[in-house]
Amino acid sequence: MNILIIGGGGVVGQKLARKLTERGTLRGQAISKITLADVVDPAMIEGAPFAIETTTCDISDAASVAKTVTAETNVIYLLAAIVSAHAEQDFDAGYAINMMGTLNVLNRCRELGTKPVVVFTSSIAVYGGEVPDPIIDHTFLNPQTSYGAQKAIGELLINDFSRKGFVDGRGFRLPTISVRPGKPNRAASSFMSSILREPLNGQEAVCPVDDDYLHYYLSPRKCVENLIKGAEIPAEDLGMNRCMMMPGRMWSIRQLVDAMTAVAGPEPAKLIRWEAQPEIKEIVKGWRFDLRPEKAIKLGLTADESFEDNIRYYLEDDKPQA
Ligand SMILES: NC(=O)c1ccc[n+]([C@@H]2O[C@H](COP(=O)([O-])OP(=O)(O)OC[C@H]3O[C@@H](n4cnc5c(N)ncnc54)[C@H](O)[C@@H]3O)[C@@H](O)[C@H]2O)c1
Repeated sequence: MNILIIGGGGVVGQKLARKLTERGTLRGQAISKITLADVVDPAMIEGAPFAIETTTCDISDAASVAKTVTAETNVIYLLAAIVSAHAEQDFDAGYAINMMGTLNVLNRCRELGTKPVVVFTSSIAVYGGEVPDPIIDHTFLNPQTSYGAQKAIGELLINDFSRKGFVDGRGFRLPTISVRPGKPNRAASSFMSSILREPLNGQEAVCPVDDDYLHYYLSPRKCVENLIKGAEIPAEDLGMNRCMMMPGRMWSIRQLVDAMTAVAGPEPAKLIRWEAQPEIKEIVKGWRFDLRPEKAIKLGLTADESFEDNIRYYLEDDKPQA
């Protein structure tokens, strides 16, 4: 089993590579090689009993994709993307990477004729606008940002290339991943991790929204588990629409902070400064939070049990050691 993770230098890509390395198998077969590809050279995963390679690849460039995606690749995780606020600010880069990059990877698979499994990470940003709550499996995609539109196009491409038999595609609309390790990123949702991560690391953070703001979350650990299960779902169980919500849970900011206090004591919450930021509030107010991912749950994907779990996973997996 030869696996290629495109976007393998990113947060989810690195965690996925580590989990696959620990596990040693995918789709019932021993893993023989994992290649991590990213526009910047990805960090190496140490200690694997099989080959791990890192390489640079720019998915917006078809020639670069052709060098990276080869006939030996059995499973491709297509995680590379620029995130919401970045794609909103740089319209051209958003379409070049998030839309054309996805098409370049799928076209390369078609050219090879090897029909790899392609796992695509979409986003709940494909929902929005004048559609009623709750969001169910048959809710139509109605993105209100360029990033959401690019992900929705990616989903259509996954469906169509799968229907034609060029790939065995599956796409998952990720909830907001929290607690996300590392530094704040250019996603408008960045504060949904930083108000927990920075205080857990003894640093101040700003919360730009009110504490009753509701949103839909999943931990990185569960996300990776679901991406692994997602690659293993038999093609015939997916149906014609190969893209679906990934399960998460709805919590208010207050519940996130209370979960942090329950796990880590009262000190971290004192490091949050509550400073309303109208521009962030304006972006996030239209986001959907009441999602019912029945199809994914039937197929075996799961959400976290409680937000306390998300906090514990951060402390166990990611908190920098003093
Ligand atoms: N983290 C979340 O909350 C969340 C929510 C919904 C969807 N997603 C999606 O999940 C995927 C992984 O997210 P993440 O949190 O690991 O993001 P990330 O930003 O940490 O990782 C994405 C990676 O893609 C790489 N990349 C960007 N442009 C590229 C290009 N032209 N060619 C090759 N690589 C390129 C980046 O260098 C980065 O390493 C993305 O597709 C993202 O849109 C994430």
